[in-house]
Amino acid sequence: MAGQILVAAASGAAFVAGAALLGFAVFAGTSLIGFGLYRRNRRYPRGPSRASGGPGARGTPRYQAPPQRQPPGLAAAAPKDPTRTLSPSPSGVRRDRPMTASASSQRSAAPAAKTPWPTRRKILDDLIDHPDRFAPHPALDGATFEEGPTGIQCFGGSNAFTVPFTNDAGESWLLRFFNSEPNPAQVKRYRHLEMLPRDVGLALGLPRTYWLDDYRSDARGVRRTTDSARTPAVLMTRVDGQHMDRFVAKHCGDRQGLLVAAARLRDRLLHFEAHQFAHGDLQDGNILVVSDGPGTSIWFVDLDDCYLPGVETSHSVGHSNYQHPKRTPKHFGPLMDGFSGLLLWVALRAIAADPQLWYDNDDDGRLLFELPDLQRPGDTDLWRALADSSDPEVRGGAERLANLCRAPGPPSVPFADLLPGW
Ligand SMILES: Nc1ncnc2c1ncn2[C@@H]1O[C@H](COP(=O)(O)OP(=O)(O)O)[C@@H](O)[C@H]1O
Ligand SMILES: [Mg+2]
Repeated sequence: MAGQILVAAASGAAFVAGAALLGFAVFAGTSLIGFGLYRRNRRYPRGPSRASGGPGARGTPRYQAPPQRQPPGLAAAAPKDPTRTLSPSPSGVRRDRPMTASASSQRSAAPAAKTPWPTRRKILDDLIDHPDRFAPHPALDGATFEEGPTGIQCFGGSNAFTVPFTNDAGESWLLRFFNSEPNPAQVKRYRHLEMLPRDVGLALGLPRTYWLDDYRSDARGVRRTTDSARTPAVLMTRVDGQHMDRFVAKHCGDRQGLLVAAARLRDRLLHFEAHQFAHGDLQDGNILVVSDGPGTSIWFVDLDDCYLPGVETSHSVGHSNYQHPKRTPKHFGPLMDGFSGLLLWVALRAIAADPQLWYDNDDDGRLLFELPDLQRPGDTDLWRALADSSDPEVRGGAERLANLCRAPGPPSVPFADLLPGW
């Protein structure tokens, strides 16, 4: 059954999103939350408001774009209190208590009472029932979410979950929601990412990214507004790719395919340094490979801890199977991807040369290496196998990686200087 929502922000029609989706299409993520093969589409077209009894006015969940950020001309036509336009709860969809005008004013009068961070279930329900709790964006026009028997389809991670959708223009996007309140440094980081010139983002392999929320920057720093707080979300173009480990599993034995991926990864990391960008948590779950033979490309998601000039330090130190064992928050900066970049490059080339290595070391959350290897450089079966690789670049790269592990901290030289033969 196709449900409908209304998106009143028709002003977004001028949005030029199609320009560079570049092969971003149907999301092929891995951690599908609990839904079977059965999927339905939940469509959010623009159209007459729910109050006017438009399509889907009864029995179907709909979405009323919030009026707050509309241009003045449209704002006049929008309902003053979006909660008043809510229709009775559609059957089978849990409804949350509507936020009444008095509840809203009480909240601004008593900012001390901190509301708990919304659960995943609540955010997914709100997407249908209380769209005014999210900031609008033209890319959301006519958003159609895939739906399974228990609700909207989403993909989970430890810090966030993502909800893919297709919009009116046929573009593939996703909303990324946080499992807990993002800190001010993260908010600022996303604001910086949003400013990244489009061509730079493409060269770096970053999906187009927008921060949707009601956080405000002022002299006291970034803070959440108390009057019309919305659940923040990151809006991103969706990469139609496979997680790096899935890609390797599928292409194990395809020497050329893995060598191309290794070369593309290296190129991206060289671009990182040229543009003073660093991801901070390079690992299989945050790297997507769009596999297309010689046109294969590498994309990076989960930008919570990235470095850009001007951002504040992130205290995350990345996934321990990919990072220097002595990495600490003080190593945050433009060179922080060098170690994990070299590790990934060596792993890809090593598996290209010897697919058996993958089968011997296949486990979730690693690409050949895991923390015990990094803590015992040169002294595990993996290191010994790498030292015997038929690819001299793997032998050289592994030796360099082992030396880096012996150092008191991660390398502070450009990635190009870490690659063997450069
Ligand atoms: N732009 C994107 N395109 C496709 N998949 C994405 C995108 N951003 C995130 N994902 C996927 O969504 C899931 C959770 O996202 P992630 O940002 O990595 O959250 P976490 O911080 O919890 O690891 C992962 O499977 C990830 O690969
Ligand atoms: Mg992640």
